[in-house]
Amino acid sequence: MKRISWKSPSNIALVKYWGKHGVQLPANPSISFSLNHCYTETSIQLHEGGTGIQSFHFEGEAKPSFIPKLQTFLDRVNPLLPWLSDFGLEIHSKNTFPHSSGIASSASGMSALALCLADAHAAMHGEEIDRQLASELARLGSGSACRSVYGGFTVWGETAHITGSSDHFALPLLDIHPEFMDLQDTILLIDSGEKQVSSTVGHGLMDGHPYAAARFEQARDHVGRLKDILSNGDFMELADLIEREALTLHAMMMSSDPHFMLFKGGSVSVISRVMEIRATGEPISFTLDAGANVHLIYPATYADKALDIIRSEFLGYCQDGAYICDSVGKGPTKIS
Ligand code: PMV
Repeated sequence: MKRISWKSPSNIALVKYWGKHGVQLPANPSISFSLNHCYTETSIQLHEGGTGIQSFHFEGEAKPSFIPKLQTFLDRVNPLLPWLSDFGLEIHSKNTFPHSSGIASSASGMSALALCLADAHAAMHGEEIDRQLASELARLGSGSACRSVYGGFTVWGETAHITGSSDHFALPLLDIHPEFMDLQDTILLIDSGEKQVSSTVGHGLMDGHPYAAARFEQARDHVGRLKDILSNGDFMELADLIEREALTLHAMMMSSDPHFMLFKGGSVSVISRVMEIRATGEPISFTLDAGANVHLIYPATYADKALDIIRSEFLGYCQDGAYICDSVGKGPTKIS
């Protein structure tokens, strides 16, 4: 079969997925948007008669150390793609964002690979690619990756607020106010070091966490509220909700056993200042991943002002003054 290539974005969660059970099933629903510039390009080549992952190259270099993780992923997707056991798989991958930026590449990486496999599945059956299948495959690689197979805003996890929602795959959210379709995300690279807590360990911290039940309930409520806010376009309501989400994610880590503190001094200085600026009526807000970097979220109409603030007040907190300007993206594309 000929080479199949896809490019797929990273995403940023506004309602966070933190806690899982079974095989990559979320403890609560989450909502994110796909980014526009931070993505992974992956191509696969299937070799008939071979078996398993035959090679993995990242940015042109052979990386045999990644193979066991990819093989686990392949074993997990086998029930959905039984034909795959008759082929060997050669994978080449590269990211558009710096490897050491502290930006999680699992969402873009796993979604790009899942899209290649779903595409191969479609080709074999003479069908169009099934994004829902791609999303389910991506989830088996990395939970949040299942939200990256679509553009715009996405929901993952069963919720009474969204018909058809599922713990097994993500769905696109279609009723989005036009002002939010080009929402900006400027990622301040405050700490580009190795992740202090891996995702697996992080999710595990919610098992037996004293506040877990209340947190999952809050996330379920936030998904319903965010869905309404995304359609009515009220930025100040969005800001209030996403900041509470981001700070709750970190509060969960600070209060788990063992406990972690992923903020750096710069993260705290930036987020306090953003809250201060917004209190004067300016449309700027933030969210956080499980790390020290701050994602500044603001409407496109505020971009000039936001960039002035970033350059005059926040650059000193960024490692080597580095930041990435991104925004809501249109989602993955096939590379011919
Ligand atoms: O997909 P994972 O297992 O890397 O977990 C992602 C967790 C967060 O990024 C912190 C939140 C989210 O919903 O993306």
